[in-house]
Amino acid sequence: MRSTDKTTEAARVMSICNACRYCEGHCAVFQAMELRLEFNADTVDYLSNLCHNCGACYHNCQYAPPHEFALNVPAAMAELRQENYGVYAWPGFMGKLFANNGLWVSALSIVVIAVFFAATAILSGADFFAVHENAFYGVISHNVLAGTFGAVGLFVLIALGASVTKFWKTMRLPGPFVLDYGRVLQGVKDALSLKYLDGGNGQGCSYPDDKPSMARRWFHQMTFWGFMLCFAATSVGTVMHYGFNLPAPYGYVSLPKLFGILGGIGLIVGPIGLLALKAKADPAPKGKSNKGMDVSFLFLLLMTSVTGLALMLVKETAFVGVALSIHLGVVMTLFLSMPYGKFVHGFYRLVALMVFAVEKNDHKAVVGVCEKKKAA
Ligand code: HEM
Ligand code: SF4
Ligand code: SF4
Repeated sequence: MRSTDKTTEAARVMSICNACRYCEGHCAVFQAMELRLEFNADTVDYLSNLCHNCGACYHNCQYAPPHEFALNVPAAMAELRQENYGVYAWPGFMGKLFANNGLWVSALSIVVIAVFFAATAILSGADFFAVHENAFYGVISHNVLAGTFGAVGLFVLIALGASVTKFWKTMRLPGPFVLDYGRVLQGVKDALSLKYLDGGNGQGCSYPDDKPSMARRWFHQMTFWGFMLCFAATSVGTVMHYGFNLPAPYGYVSLPKLFGILGGIGLIVGPIGLLALKAKADPAPKGKSNKGMDVSFLFLLLMTSVTGLALMLVKETAFVGVALSIHLGVVMTLFLSMPYGKFVHGFYRLVALMVFAVEKNDHKAVVGVCEKKKAA
């Protein structure tokens, strides 16, 4: 089992908290902690993904710096999450991309947008600045688009599937076909409602400063549901195209358009709100975790919706080629960075909360308990 500076620090803070227990009402981390006496790498990986970085336990802690214990639970958990995203990545060597994540995602976006500019210019020839009757499919055919994004999408699914399976096994959940969904449902609800961004008392997390606020929770909900609606828009469009022979473009009163516009708005307001909060936030509870990763992901989400809505507005003008190249470049960067960037947090957090639902129900630790002890 691995032992690194980050796992050791997380185990240190949890051992002190386990003696103190002042914060037990705040969140799942402390309730899961109280079920254990030892904190190995698996256990701290689990606890770090339960921590929502709400900051409440940092602002309330009598052992926080300048105390000699220098306790900062959210920072220890955030730094460890940064490390364990890399540990669970597939293929393993790609895990290195979680370091300096903001830098490589930005570099990738420049390269990918340039490639899309070149490809669209070559495919549309002299018509790059022409007005096309059938909007953007006049610039790039539907089959080329579906083929390219389908192939990359398949790789992303495999990479994410392999990483989440590794984490799932470490968390000791039974396979998805034999999982008791009734038992883990509470975890799914807690993930979808972002329960632990409520600071433990329903007033919200200590973010961006020590005053409780619901702002992060609401902006995250807009980002999350905005993303889900955009995803639904694309999926419904694909089903209409292939299943019912109803190709795009669709009218304003159609499911793909309504989902896309609503999702696009959520995916503009949410990321702008989260970026604004981040600019004001006290950096202490985040520790040395990768701010570049959060910011680049927020920018990618924001640019996906801004360029998507812009494309909708200019699709019947001479700018369709330019708008399409930028939008496709941004979406492709988002796709490619999904298994190796902030996007993975949703899956690991969901799995951790599902395990917590089981542990809480049984009043018994599941993750990190050694087999011999379990048998005894
Ligand atoms: C089960 C689903 C999810 C859960 C439980 C969850 C939870 C969280 C939590 C607790 C944070 C704050 C701590 C941190 O920075 O890691 C966060 C940050 C973030 N999440 Fe999620 N998330 C989920 C899915 C998603 C999805 C699908 C998206 C968008 C595609 C998303 C976008 C973001 C962004 C942009 C941030 C950074 C916000 C910031 O830096 O302030 N999340 N998430
Ligand atoms: S964070 Fe501080 S106050 Fe809270 S349980 Fe840990 S040691 Fe106690
Ligand atoms: S920062 Fe918030 S979510 Fe994380 S351990 Fe502290 S109270 Fe729990």
